[in-house]
Amino acid sequence: MSMFQTTVESGESAVNKASSLIRAGEVVGIPTETVYGLGANALDEQAVRKIFAAKGRPADNPLIVHISRIEMLEGLVKKVPKLASKCALQFWPGPLTMIMPKSQLIPMVTSGGLDTVGIRMPASEVARQIIDKSGVPIAAPSANLSGSPSPTSAQHVFTDMNGRIPLIVDGGECGVGVESTVISFEGDEGIRLLRPGFISVEELKNITENVIIDKGVLEMLDQNARVSSPGMKYKHYAPKAEVTILDGSCQAFELYISENAKEEDVLLVFGEGEAEKAPQRRICLGASDEEQARNLFDALRQLDAIGAKRAFARCPSKKGVGLAVYNRLLRAAAFRVVKL
Ligand code: TXA
Ligand code: MG
Repeated sequence: MSMFQTTVESGESAVNKASSLIRAGEVVGIPTETVYGLGANALDEQAVRKIFAAKGRPADNPLIVHISRIEMLEGLVKKVPKLASKCALQFWPGPLTMIMPKSQLIPMVTSGGLDTVGIRMPASEVARQIIDKSGVPIAAPSANLSGSPSPTSAQHVFTDMNGRIPLIVDGGECGVGVESTVISFEGDEGIRLLRPGFISVEELKNITENVIIDKGVLEMLDQNARVSSPGMKYKHYAPKAEVTILDGSCQAFELYISENAKEEDVLLVFGEGEAEKAPQRRICLGASDEEQARNLFDALRQLDAIGAKRAFARCPSKKGVGLAVYNRLLRAAAFRVVKL
């Protein structure tokens, strides 16, 4: 499918061009602080259909709607739960998506047939400028081909979307590196975490003690199950290599590698010193949870670029944004975890 001569542009002229294209019902690659998105007018069914086509995304997987000002929220949802107002005050603009009952304005195509919609106000200035200038809320899934790791640079988007969209706005590398935290509300009582992200469980607990971690965050879901967040049932973030997470100390990791890994396998490690004597090629994600989040998707893309058949990864911390890194790596590993 090569319908467009895809250009990568930056600066004010790129923002203006992106906004005109979005107003004209086209799809554009846009930077956000989490990952790059494939944006189109959320209120225009035809435009939204183009997003699904460009990504190869299943029609029942809903899109997140992005706003630039809090006043845009009113028309898009039927009701703003009390806890949602609190979260908006605390975390917006930022990497938090909140699921709420949708208004008539949001087409069913955008919400994947659901009567709810996920709304987020991104922290990225460029993203908010594009929304402002377009004058419409922007539906945007991550700008990868369905099943590939999410893109954290304009180059990643180009790799997946060349020929499929007219423009990618280059806003540099994404600061966060994993997609937004997705939550829904249990009446006025509690928050349900559907997808972990940079806004952590610990931070959500400052809003209410009652934070439920949905089953799909850490467990494999049945393909036919009715799930609270359709995105969680799909194989995701998958490199071509068979990835295995090794859950244990660095020492135990090194021992396991020396006994089980072939020389052509690839290691995903945190610090430079880890497994440094091992003969395998190593990709270093960084020592902190934040660095690991920023580098994870690029590392998964590198596995493909190298042509790796098998990879072994250290196990993320599962705390703070580490829970998001673990959640994404679990899917990349098709839930293969070895307890050391
Ligand atoms: O950080 C992000 O959220 C990025 C950037 C571009 O903003 N976007 C993103 O979109 O990650 P996407 O489509 O790749 O992931 C959206 C996730 C999916 O797992 C989807 O199932 C879930 O959010 N979701 C969206 N709307 C929902 C709804 N109404 N109910 C339940 N889950 C929903
Ligand atoms: Mg995605």
